[in-house]
Amino acid sequence: MQVLEREISSSARTPHNPSLGKRLQERIAHEFAPRWAQQWGDKFILHGRSPGAGAVRLDGNDYLNVTGHPEIVQAQISALTRDRESVVQSGVFLLGSHPAHALEKSLASWVGKDDGFLCQSGYTANMGLLQIIADAQTPIYLDSLAHASLWEGAHAARAPAHAFRHNSPEHLARMMKTHGPGVVVVDSVYSTTGAVCRLHEILEVTEQNDSMIVVDESHSLGTHGPQGAGLCAELGVTDRVHFITASLAKAVAGRAGFFTAPASMRYYILISSFPNIFSSSLLPHEIAGLAATVGVLQRSDDARRRLHANTRRLRSTFTDIGYPIHQGTEQIISLEAGTEPAAMILRDELEARDVIGSIFCAPATSRNRAMVRLTLSSALTEAEMSHVEAVAREIAPIVKPWDWPIARRARSAKMDV
Ligand SMILES: Cc1ncc(COP(=O)(O)O)c(C=O)c1O
Repeated sequence: MQVLEREISSSARTPHNPSLGKRLQERIAHEFAPRWAQQWGDKFILHGRSPGAGAVRLDGNDYLNVTGHPEIVQAQISALTRDRESVVQSGVFLLGSHPAHALEKSLASWVGKDDGFLCQSGYTANMGLLQIIADAQTPIYLDSLAHASLWEGAHAARAPAHAFRHNSPEHLARMMKTHGPGVVVVDSVYSTTGAVCRLHEILEVTEQNDSMIVVDESHSLGTHGPQGAGLCAELGVTDRVHFITASLAKAVAGRAGFFTAPASMRYYILISSFPNIFSSSLLPHEIAGLAATVGVLQRSDDARRRLHANTRRLRSTFTDIGYPIHQGTEQIISLEAGTEPAAMILRDELEARDVIGSIFCAPATSRNRAMVRLTLSSALTEAEMSHVEAVAREIAPIVKPWDWPIARRARSAKMDV
């Protein structure tokens, strides 16, 4: 702490930098330094130890293990060797014949839509879409656990943003009655809990209120639905959903994002959505890799089955041991220890036994709902699955999941019924 405090709150200049503004020093001292010193014990909460060679990695999002797939690698290499004169430009300049456009059409048709737009990331896809479909007169209703980039999109649109209770169409209906028609925003599978959106009911409320809906399919594209087309396709509601967005850094395992929009909106979007105008588009080898990945994922039914089987098995084992993971059902398993120090202890106990998860804490979760997030994949072997189960059992008496605040809340909710 002393070093950090001295460095940050010193009004003297340091060897390489002028002194920071007073307001910034105060903010860091007030918002960050106590967390660092008192909660984290003078180290960065998100950095554990380096995983050893045999560690079981449950900290990625390549759910169907496509990284390094020969078809994808070959497509990238061919593009790198072929495209020696490519010009890096904003998406707005790319002509219809550009390979980006074919990929946009292919992604759109995969999820059952007529057109879509590539972005540099899922984050910019969400921001760039909301920025142009809402404005100061259009209320946006976001599930309280919707991804941060969707909230940023609401800010970019300068729209009034209203949080409705997580997965509660009832609360959404009450809020829409008060604030009027607008845009409803949900994730298909929630990134911090692995819960599936109650999409049928939320769609009903959206339609009853003459509103539009955006579904972020980041954690279901590739993993859910026929040929991995996503949750909307699985539920047969694609044509009732106005806009689908997705990070292509999860099952698609690239560095990009995507949103669908009616083909009739193409030129309106190109001339108004900021990420497509003020930031460069993807490189040719990224586009080629993503295009090949779509094909690989569409043919990955076996991997999808393995992923869902792994999910069912580990969820059932963790529940039997007493881990309170009732919030979700899908391939993201959150071990919500509660406080940040408790999450660090849990992470360290797992890591000491070669099971690697990721800590999620504020601002990714609310304060005192810190967790270790485990993400599963189709590639987990029987030995790895058994190892994770054995470790979960071994550390349970140490980390006492039945005493976590979320477990106590669940027990008292049951007693109230
Ligand atoms: C639901 C959801 N949407 C959007 C994003 C942003 O994606 P990207 O990492 O591609 O910017 C993420 C990633 O964390 C996510 O989980």
